[in-house]
Amino acid sequence: MPSRRARPASSTAARHTPDPAAAGRLDLLEPVMSAVEVAAARLPDLLADLDPTSVTIALLLPEGEGSAVASLAPLGELGFDVEELVATHEPKAGEGAVTRIPFAPGDRPVRRALVVGVGASTADGSGHAHRRAGATLGRVARGSRDVVLAVPPRTTPHELSGLVEGFLLGGWTVPTWRAQGPTPPAEAQRPATRLLLAADASGAEQLAEAARRSAIRVRATLLARCLGLTPSNIKNPAWMAARCRSLARRHGLTVKVWNERDLAREGFGGLLAVGGGSATPPRLVQLEWNPPGPEAGPDPVHVVLVGKGITFDTGGLDIKPAEGMLAMKTDMMGSAAVAATLAACRDLGVAVRVTGLLALAENAVSGAAYRPSDVVTHYSGTTVEIGNTDAEGRVVLADALAYAVEQLRPDVVVDIATLTGAARVAFARAMAPVFATDDGLRDALIAAGTAEGETLWPLPLPTAYRAALDSPVADLQQISGAHGAGSIMAALFLREFVGQTPWAHLDVAGPGRSDVDAGLLAKGPTGFGTRVLLRWLEGLR
Ligand code: BES
Ligand code: MN
Ligand code: ZN
Repeated sequence: MPSRRARPASSTAARHTPDPAAAGRLDLLEPVMSAVEVAAARLPDLLADLDPTSVTIALLLPEGEGSAVASLAPLGELGFDVEELVATHEPKAGEGAVTRIPFAPGDRPVRRALVVGVGASTADGSGHAHRRAGATLGRVARGSRDVVLAVPPRTTPHELSGLVEGFLLGGWTVPTWRAQGPTPPAEAQRPATRLLLAADASGAEQLAEAARRSAIRVRATLLARCLGLTPSNIKNPAWMAARCRSLARRHGLTVKVWNERDLAREGFGGLLAVGGGSATPPRLVQLEWNPPGPEAGPDPVHVVLVGKGITFDTGGLDIKPAEGMLAMKTDMMGSAAVAATLAACRDLGVAVRVTGLLALAENAVSGAAYRPSDVVTHYSGTTVEIGNTDAEGRVVLADALAYAVEQLRPDVVVDIATLTGAARVAFARAMAPVFATDDGLRDALIAAGTAEGETLWPLPLPTAYRAALDSPVADLQQISGAHGAGSIMAALFLREFVGQTPWAHLDVAGPGRSDVDAGLLAKGPTGFGTRVLLRWLEGLR
């Protein structure tokens, strides 16, 4: 009888290969999301081609005098009495308000209309109100087929972008692992099949491009979420590396993977120390996007993105208490954001060269685990005295950053990591601190975050604090004990490994996960940072 089991690659793998039935099925990583189309057509013409029983009409209602009649005007084109609908249903304009207008079956071209309140539009260009309205609509439209949204005249590409991202992210629901393997959500919870945006012919082309790009950024975000949701008995470092190989194949990237022997030969002491306690050994993955063609020029700007990829963080010998450990399957969201970003570069036509490095290890407990007081030699040769095995993120990142600046010589390096609980204490879930050695780089990342509704807030790298990382026995100590300023000290530690290369660091320990299923977020990993990185890269030449 033919075996369904994959052949294990080594004896360690034989005992610890994740359930091949689940791991072999990539469909889970193919996020289920609505198709999005922009049509330069009047509503009646658009609806003429659709099955009336399957159509939901969506209308946006901003706050302001008389706006209900204006917002519902497209229903007038379909033969409804707008004044009467407004008088009967009194649609609300407040943020998050949804007014459902059902239509009797018969000769009506639609089954129902949904009027979504936009609230007071912010004039800051962030598309924030539209993003939130989109999320509301995406949520209430779950289980529907065609959702036809009449795009209000003068909607900017930026607002449409927010609307589409909100719709796709809000509509998404988490997959599950059932007996038959990874399972998409049940019909009624599934995102609407299609979002059809009916726009004025004048701006339709620009709007279509904005919608296309938004859908790509969302797909990347959802890919990161799917990686984060995967349980850690499936998602070990080798599994992540295998997912990267498959992403590389499908998205026009080159890929290189270091296994534990390669890491030892080349001196990646940090990755080996952190990964040493695990039955599933560490990996370093390099993904590379090279922009093709003459537009890129002979020597394009080179960006390196480095992601923390702890596939599970027990804390190591400095073991975490139960409540602190439970969520630690998402301690690889930095590396998930990096992989997802690389996977979207071709579709977004990113014009710069981008290399992604995923520093992958499981921080586990065993006789082979690294210890507090160990001295680790990093890729750079720098020695580090370990103070707490639970501060493992900076240990794996130091190797990857040192390799990046020494071997790849990029123009800029950005790392992203679920690095410190202190970042969550300082900022809670809604924003991430950003640290940078270059003001222009920091401001560009903050601007990209504003455009995407992913807020970054600058924190300093105070020179005076650096001395707290001096070690009595090594070049550096990993943590600064009772010094305080945990997020800043972690950033100062990382800075020791980037030399003179312009560098920024995003600590996503707070917004990397959501406790609530609301707005654009589902409970669990958020993919925070993926859209920041993509927006930023899209703007680079
Ligand atoms: N992965 C954690 C940080 C974290 C905490 C992320 C909560 C998301 C939610 C990190 O490896 C860690 O354990 N950091 C320690 C560092 C300390 C030992 C210096 C922390 O923040 O407590
Ligand atoms: Mn830790
Ligand atoms: Zn960690």
